[in-house]
Amino acid sequence: MIDRATADRIKDAADIVEVVSDYVHLTRRGSNFMGLCPFHNERTPSFSVNRRKNMCYCFSCHKGGSPVNFIMEKEGINYHDALLHLAKKYGITVEERELTDEERQLQSRREGMLVVNEWAMEKMENNLTATDEGRDIGLQYFLQRGITNEAIRKFHLGYAIDRQTALSDEAKAAGHDLEILKEVGLVGISGNGNMYDRFRGRVIFPIQNTAGKVVAFGGRDLKGGPAKYVNSPESDIYKKNRELYGIYQAKNEIVKQDKCFLVEGYMDVIGMWQAGMKNAIASSGTALTDGQIALIHRFTENITLLYDGDAAGIKAALRGIDMLLSHKMRVKVLLLPDGHDPDSFARINTPEQFRKYVDEHETDIIRFKAQVLMNDAAGDPLKRSEAIRSVVESLACIPDPITANVYIQECSRLMDVDESIIATETRRMRAQILEKRRMERKYEQERDKLATDIKEHSSVAPDHRTGQQSGNTGSPSLMPYEKQLIRYCVRYGMMDFCEGMDESGNAVRLNVAEYVYVDLELENIRFSVPAFEKTFSVILGLKEQYEQDLLKFKATQDVLFQQKREEGIKAISMKEMELSMIALEEERLDESLKAERLEEEKMFSAEYTSRTLASHEDDDVRILANQCANDVQPLSRRFDKIGNNIPEHDRLFDLIPRAITEWKQEITKLEINRLMELIRNAGSGDTELTAETMRQIASLQETMRDIAKSIGERVISPRR
Ligand code: CTP
Ligand code: MN
Repeated sequence: MIDRATADRIKDAADIVEVVSDYVHLTRRGSNFMGLCPFHNERTPSFSVNRRKNMCYCFSCHKGGSPVNFIMEKEGINYHDALLHLAKKYGITVEERELTDEERQLQSRREGMLVVNEWAMEKMENNLTATDEGRDIGLQYFLQRGITNEAIRKFHLGYAIDRQTALSDEAKAAGHDLEILKEVGLVGISGNGNMYDRFRGRVIFPIQNTAGKVVAFGGRDLKGGPAKYVNSPESDIYKKNRELYGIYQAKNEIVKQDKCFLVEGYMDVIGMWQAGMKNAIASSGTALTDGQIALIHRFTENITLLYDGDAAGIKAALRGIDMLLSHKMRVKVLLLPDGHDPDSFARINTPEQFRKYVDEHETDIIRFKAQVLMNDAAGDPLKRSEAIRSVVESLACIPDPITANVYIQECSRLMDVDESIIATETRRMRAQILEKRRMERKYEQERDKLATDIKEHSSVAPDHRTGQQSGNTGSPSLMPYEKQLIRYCVRYGMMDFCEGMDESGNAVRLNVAEYVYVDLELENIRFSVPAFEKTFSVILGLKEQYEQDLLKFKATQDVLFQQKREEGIKAISMKEMELSMIALEEERLDESLKAERLEEEKMFSAEYTSRTLASHEDDDVRILANQCANDVQPLSRRFDKIGNNIPEHDRLFDLIPRAITEWKQEITKLEINRLMELIRNAGSGDTELTAETMRQIASLQETMRDIAKSIGERVISPRR
């Protein structure tokens, strides 16, 4: 960790123009610099760098921030590493802080857990040969299932003695902390508070991670009890969906053959290994997860799924394929003769026979899917079209267009469907998938950025973002003002608001949220409530999606209003009228339709933000959105002087600047109070400080007057 003073020094030294110039060619525009945004593709520069504020910002993709933010984003590194990066650039020596006690504890706890597991593995391995019970029951079982001594050693198979506290007693004697045994799930506490071994009278399969560390155990029942397997619970060292059984023993062979076999269970991995297929791993009875696929992907892109040839096996084979295809894996499936799993099949075949069977029966997964589904749908048109759709769904998961194309051709032939239909549908579905993923990524980025912003904000102060506005540090009296403003942004964020200028003086349209952003940036004000700040940044990121949705909405409106117009014209033509009257009526119709349409569009914009956020995945954002969308506006007088009911979204020109101003006023007031306090507490000898503080107060009072004037002396407090 970098201590605070050093972090401050690094941030002070980092000059945004210098930092950005390492990546972007900047040209001077007035007091600012402009360049092509390094975060998205563009041909005209929207990336602006402001030396005074020491910040950068892209007007088009909204990325940017302090030098630290910029480096984090650009280099894809975390806050800490970005500081190190900048320290190096500016020749600042960093002495990293030692880990905190807490961090050290976590680290040593993990290490402790691994040590205990390693010890337990050896103990139970030893039981298999060194105890009568282990030999008679455990070893006997393995041998009877055809497992060789070599495999037992390779996979460190073991046996857990069938006694309440066999392992715990030994752990105690060996000086291990029983708390740790509890954490890794080797022991449990019974209802009456007694400790017991969780694995008893079972053969043991240790689960090792890629580095060979024992992170968990699986224990198989031998007595026909109710739980066939007992497995270690999730813990700090065991995340089930990121581990694969057998990966440690298989990884070299997977790389060597550039291929892996995926089987279902512990025994299958071992059976395959004995049959000379040493590149097999198991997902342990569950469907593959993203994390597991990513793990496989580190070693190979080729995977063959091995399943029983019965209906359940076929279903299982089809289940995980979209996810595998999305990860750019080349997937094949191998069905074993009905009733066989890899373990039993390996036992009745020589390695040569097994290999031959694989070579002859391995089928490409998409071909397999198309064939299975089409056979199943034979003669049933409805089922047939479902089958086609399902295949198209899989095709759409393939990232590489050339590969996808090859499959499209093949599937068209297999399913006897026109190639262009499959191609179009696949493209459409692919676009949907990409769009969904893009949105997800965007949310994630915003979340991360926000998290680091908040971290930066709270761990290192003052920072140029909060600047001199030290009053803006989350005083509870600011809350209602912030709430007011975030409410406008949540409700109307995407509504077109006014013309603004980007930092090089080009005219741009600003929506409500952007207007607020620009205004707040100008004064270095930020929301002090983290949920508000987070939501605000989510809103700023909505624009692109909004514009797309607006286009879609307009397209639907086109159709709708065309219909309405046709109906209207038909109605007019039914009336008996002079020709000139007809023309007039038609004109009126067009006008009223146009007005109606504009109104519809406005409502779409007005409601878009809160509607979108109301189902946002982040709890804070969603809760706030729902609150704001449903509350009754505290400030708004729903009727103006003449008594006309003007909807809030038509009075934003008045409401929003006022909300900002009132907030600024409160901040300034707080700052004045703080300085007053400073004077009161200053010793009488401290005349210099007092004089300087008085000057600051005077200048702030000046600011207050300016602010008040800017809203026509109307100073209104939001009701609490
Ligand atoms: N599994 C589990 N818990 C269960 C059943 C199964 O964790 N109650 C996991 C185990 O990882 C197991 C895999 O699912 O290895 C496959 O289950 P199954 O085919 O029933 O077990 P096998 O390992 O093949 O055991 P055996 O051949 O001895 O029946
Ligand atoms: Mn089995």
